[in-house]
Amino acid sequence: MKPFTDILQNKEFTREELVKLLSAGDEERRQLFVQAQLVKSETVGNKVYLRGLIEFSNKCGKDCLYCGIRKNNNKVVRYELTDQEILEACRFAWLNRFGSVVLQSGEISSPTFVKRIDLLLQKIKELSNGELGITLSCGEQSAETYQQWRQSGTHRYLLRIESSNPELYRKIHPDNDFHSYERRIQAIRDLKECGYQVGTGVMIGLPFQTVYDLADDLLFFKAIEVDMVGMGPYIEHEDTPLYEFREMIKTKQERFDLALKMVATLRLLMPDINIAAATALQAIDPAGREKALTIGANIIMPNLTPCEYRKEYQLYEDKPCLDEDAEMCRNCLEARIELAGCEIGYSEWGDSKHFKRRQ
Ligand code: 5AD
Ligand code: FES
Repeated sequence: MKPFTDILQNKEFTREELVKLLSAGDEERRQLFVQAQLVKSETVGNKVYLRGLIEFSNKCGKDCLYCGIRKNNNKVVRYELTDQEILEACRFAWLNRFGSVVLQSGEISSPTFVKRIDLLLQKIKELSNGELGITLSCGEQSAETYQQWRQSGTHRYLLRIESSNPELYRKIHPDNDFHSYERRIQAIRDLKECGYQVGTGVMIGLPFQTVYDLADDLLFFKAIEVDMVGMGPYIEHEDTPLYEFREMIKTKQERFDLALKMVATLRLLMPDINIAAATALQAIDPAGREKALTIGANIIMPNLTPCEYRKEYQLYEDKPCLDEDAEMCRNCLEARIELAGCEIGYSEWGDSKHFKRRQ
């Protein structure tokens, strides 16, 4: 195999080469990060785009074995923001020149829910003179629903594959049709067909996951020509079935380091996509997201969920910023992004260059 420094100059990567990058030791990792930073500034530049995150409901019909808000976790108090609360958070985002918002929730697909989102999308467009970009992250829905929401004004959708290895996927989800790998792949295809900019991603450091799985995840992103990726460390949650396997996973620090290497390697593999600095990074290291911005990520999702609800949206333990209000988060964020050597793209949608190119 080629020497590490030569692999860094590749445009195409084999599975083995990706594994080598992901397995980099200290000195090699430093080189990987330098190269990813270079590729980033040459292709997508140094701007970071803001997506105000509104976790508008933790009601979920699914039971993913890793997730703190799974249906069968009855310790969670279920909430739903009112339309007014959602619209206020959107107004905050717009007034503070965030280019976009992300509306995220558990997975519900009742006709009432679908209709409600539809109306909200129209209202958000209205209140911001059509300026605020809207991303949805509401799980698997029918192609018709995706179509309807697309027409009502959303243009990006996030749906992580969680793991691209079907066997591993089955290990971290209940074994039934409602949690099917094939169905999830179909949903991602449907989103692309509806004309969305599609974001997907995986968790890093899952029980049973190998570095080969992670290399395959990266190749999967490339194969499906995804526009955006958000991926972060898996963080065990006491009230979930996967907690049982906590002894077999890497340390938090190792998962964090691996997540950064995934971000940097992905930047080399897909130079012109948008890569989010995942919030889960911050649950391990307070400066985790900024570190990701320095080595390849270009999107950050400040949390705009009203504080009183945040503790009920704990997908994993130690979720950060549980009691900071949106304004404080914005100020500290700005300083930290500048420290990371980046500049905020205020009032810009910051669409994926990759999406524009494939149009
Ligand atoms: N650790 C890390 N990330 C998690 N997510 C859900 N549960 C966890 C966990 N325990 C991620 C999933 C999901 C996203 C919204 O949050 O990848 O797609
Ligand atoms: Fe809600 Fe997985 S637990 S979608």
